[in-house]
Amino acid sequence: LNNGVARTPPMGWNSWNTFGCNINEALIRQQADALVSSGMRDLGYQYVVVDDCWFNPNRDSAGNLQGDPTRFPSGMKALGDYLHARGLKFGIYQVPVDRTCAQYFGAYPGATGSQGHETQDARQFAAWGVDFLKYDWCSPNGTIDDQVRTFARMRDALAATGRPIVYSINPNSIHAKTGPLRNWGDVANMWRTTEDITNAWNTGQTNGYPMGIQNIVNVNVPLASYAGPGQFNDPDMMEVGNGGMTDTEMRSHFALWAIMASPLIAGNDLRAMSAQTLTILRNQRLVAINQDPLAVQATQIANDGTRRVLAKRLANGDIAVALFNQGSAATTVSTTAAAVGKTGSSFTLVDAWTGATSTTTGAISANVPAHGTAVFRVSGGGTTTPPPSTTTTLVSAASG
Ligand code: GLA
Repeated sequence: LNNGVARTPPMGWNSWNTFGCNINEALIRQQADALVSSGMRDLGYQYVVVDDCWFNPNRDSAGNLQGDPTRFPSGMKALGDYLHARGLKFGIYQVPVDRTCAQYFGAYPGATGSQGHETQDARQFAAWGVDFLKYDWCSPNGTIDDQVRTFARMRDALAATGRPIVYSINPNSIHAKTGPLRNWGDVANMWRTTEDITNAWNTGQTNGYPMGIQNIVNVNVPLASYAGPGQFNDPDMMEVGNGGMTDTEMRSHFALWAIMASPLIAGNDLRAMSAQTLTILRNQRLVAINQDPLAVQATQIANDGTRRVLAKRLANGDIAVALFNQGSAATTVSTTAAAVGKTGSSFTLVDAWTGATSTTTGAISANVPAHGTAVFRVSGGGTTTPPPSTTTTLVSAASG
């Protein structure tokens, strides 16, 4: 979406993966403080997104949305002010139709969707200082055309406020999994491509609930051509730091999100991060690959069912290369500079995990543990046209 924001993938934190409906203003402020004290804000993690369950289930007498008076006694504007005073940005969650997902599943009362209130609600968000709206379908009903019309109405209402607001949509929740079937770049800055993530490597789902890291990668990789400045495939908020995976799998998760030009939205409790979690989330080389101004998503240049190679072009002519081993035993994953889009005969490789530098005449190779991902930044030589993607089959719609 060409609205001036999200020219590179948005970075930040979202309350849902760890806290679900158990949110309040003290918690959000603590997470914001931790973004600052951990150094994450200064690396680019700036959007603090308050997900489902922030609102009063009833609109006020003028029909305005209101924050839940118990959870957010100071009001939503005050929360926005708190975040802005710390150099952070304010994100909030809403749905168009019927109920939010938590309401749909009975975890929270009410029905406060924005359909028919788009102009009023967008103005309210702008007045609160909202910088990011996550707009979640959360209904079993509607065709893709219905979704496009409905999501576009809020897009236009946000634009009419004059406030730059990142527009993040989820066409998938509860609904048939339509995300992979359309390039939503004319509608939103980012759009969820799968059902909800969980803190597991592989749940065996194709695109059903809940999705493990491996399952999401399978859906998201073939959608690379949809991504660019202002428009990104969203494989969901991260599970780094939430347990359920090995350190290798957590690193793979982050590395793959980074090279897929995915929004990097942390979903862990920032007040209690292990050294291991901090090492992953604060990897400056991977953040730089993710935030590269060319803002393209890595294309897959090889996949033999075990070893997958992804390559992301970078603005200065370098290529970022991921060597991903999705098998259950360590193996050597290899490619060449030519295969990932480089011309020439001498290249420098920087290992994004260790920072180690090496030179090569062409071979790019690593012994990669099970479920691991090695990432190299390849410089030197010239750069050819983008490497073709070997995977073109999109996942078909499933009901659910
Ligand atoms: C859906 C979304 C999640 C989260 C919940 C909130 O499941 O996909 O990311 O926003 O709703 O209820």
